[in-house]
Amino acid sequence: MSPEQGIDRRPRLGTRLVGARWHQRQAIDSTNLEALRLREGGAPVGTVVVADTQTAGRGRLGRRWDDVPGRCLLMSVLLEAPTHAPGLLTAAAALATAEAIEALVGVCVAIKWPNDLLAGERKLAGVLAEGPAGGPLAVGIGVNVNGAPEDLPPELLERATFVSHEAGREAAVAALADELAARLDGVYHLLVDGQTCAVIARIAGRDALAGRRVQARALSQTLAGTALRWLDDGRLLLRVDDGREVALEAGEVTLL
Ligand code: BTN
Repeated sequence: MSPEQGIDRRPRLGTRLVGARWHQRQAIDSTNLEALRLREGGAPVGTVVVADTQTAGRGRLGRRWDDVPGRCLLMSVLLEAPTHAPGLLTAAAALATAEAIEALVGVCVAIKWPNDLLAGERKLAGVLAEGPAGGPLAVGIGVNVNGAPEDLPPELLERATFVSHEAGREAAVAALADELAARLDGVYHLLVDGQTCAVIARIAGRDALAGRRVQARALSQTLAGTALRWLDDGRLLLRVDDGREVALEAGEVTLL
């Protein structure tokens, strides 16, 4: 297989799908955009794009995603969203990422609905699935792997951190990519096999919000209340202060 088509790394990773093609780039606009371009060219489900740095990294809600070149994991995987619950694809990637970081360096990672990975109260990683309907989406995962607080812009100092800072030692970005690919393959197949409850149960074990006071912004309304739990379709169940229970499909939640 020529390098343009990517390398099939499934035998080495022990995966069924993830890594069917593996594209390693140095600098690129965004691994999500690159994965979607490859999709246009006929790349199969399971295609992975990894980059050393991004010039136009994309975060949720139209935000930028910045990296420290060569020291962050920037990875996108083409995967089909489950038709019954599309939000579960992001959840699956968040779970696989949390478990991969923990397995590699022993840092406890919590998942903050819908896509943030936290060490304590600080963000370590995020997930963004995007792409046109009617085909696999680019599931993009960004992890702050090796760095120190001084690598962060002042406005993120209190809100973000690095795996190495939490672990007290550096981690190999390539090893994390392999570990994540293998775990994402496993979690994705649970979804495909309809074992959604098993995925949600694992997420619940590391839920950063359950039982905590939050403010949620969703569909142009702001709700204050207590986060209850992830539902099996990936929505967040919230008990609003007026007593109603509301299931959020999308939105942003802030801890109060
Ligand atoms: C977020 O928390 O806002 C989501 C961040 C997702 C960032 C990753 S980095 C790899 C992939 N390529 C992108 O442009 N974005 C995602």
